Amino acid sequence: MQVASREFTSVTPENSMKWRSLAPAPDEYDFSGADQLVDFALANGQRLRGHTLFWHRLNGLPSWLHAELDAASDPAARLRELMADHTATVVGRYAGRIAQWDVINEPLGIASGDFDRENIFYQLLGEEYLDLALLHAHAADPSAELFINETFTEFQPQKFDALIALAQRVLARGAPLHGIGLQGHFFLRAPDEAVLRDQLRRIAALGLKAEITELDIPLPLFDTTPDPLAAQAQAYADVFNACLAVPLCSGITVWGVDDAHTWLDSFVITAGNAPNRPLLFDGQLQAKPAYHAVVDALLDAVPWRIVSN
Ligand code: G3I
Repeated sequence: MQVASREFTSVTPENSMKWRSLAPAPDEYDFSGADQLVDFALANGQRLRGHTLFWHRLNGLPSWLHAELDAASDPAARLRELMADHTATVVGRYAGRIAQWDVINEPLGIASGDFDRENIFYQLLGEEYLDLALLHAHAADPSAELFINETFTEFQPQKFDALIALAQRVLARGAPLHGIGLQGHFFLRAPDEAVLRDQLRRIAALGLKAEITELDIPLPLFDTTPDPLAAQAQAYADVFNACLAVPLCSGITVWGVDDAHTWLDSFVITAGNAPNRPLLFDGQLQAKPAYHAVVDALLDAVPWRIVSN
């Protein structure tokens, strides 16, 4: 907790604001976990990123949703109604306190630029579900910055192109979109600074904010290098330098505080490599070389220095 409040200026929930976590039943909400996080962040003067209103994968959807839609005479209408209620309830509750929302998470296929076939929102409502969600969120909190958050775009240029095209269509229809988040889970490939910088610039060229929203870079990626911790540190510096080069890159969120608590150690694809050690602090909460590389990158970007003798 001390590290989380001392070292970070922004906070996001890993799971506690997902629809499944918040709503045990269609008209029932349990905000205990989410409230705790919001209180913690505000007590420490930290910005909050809300994550996430609509995500069709893994633990994103409530367990009751499919049964609820199956039982409806008009499933699309019922889904629209549930989306409106959910957004008003959650975004409304935290209005003025949550600065940014990942309104939509991962709309596209994992390895393609097409909409995911398993995406229940797209199946029932088509692409319009993006606009609907954004419009409801904007109505519930006009001051919140609204994001579409996507994964594995950093090393899939076609998927990134599709994300940009999607954002352009949303903007052309007049929906209130303010930013694009690139998750930055680099467990398949280490980051490439130039590619990332170019992608952040292309987001900014749409007039949108760009953020890296779920950064982690596992150590086993660098097993074949002489000093894996130094290579990991360089990779972190690359990500920060890419963002620092783009004025509309407004934040980087790491997906966890310390190496003892990372989703990668239990995730099916990466669990075999555990401990993945992907974060800035080790399991004893000691700052790693990656932490110092990030601090150096941030200090280098400050246009002035206080020099003491
Ligand atoms: O809460 C239960 C607990 O009661 C049970 O005992 C335990 C046993 O497995 O599971 C717990 O649930 C776990 C949940 O996290 C809460 O800790 C799930 O198994 C586990 O699968 C779940 O993983 C989360 C994952 O989303 C769900 O797919 C990760 O913590 C979370 O980091 C991850 O986050 C997502 C982002 O939201 C979106 N981008 C991708 C990222 C990784 O999938």
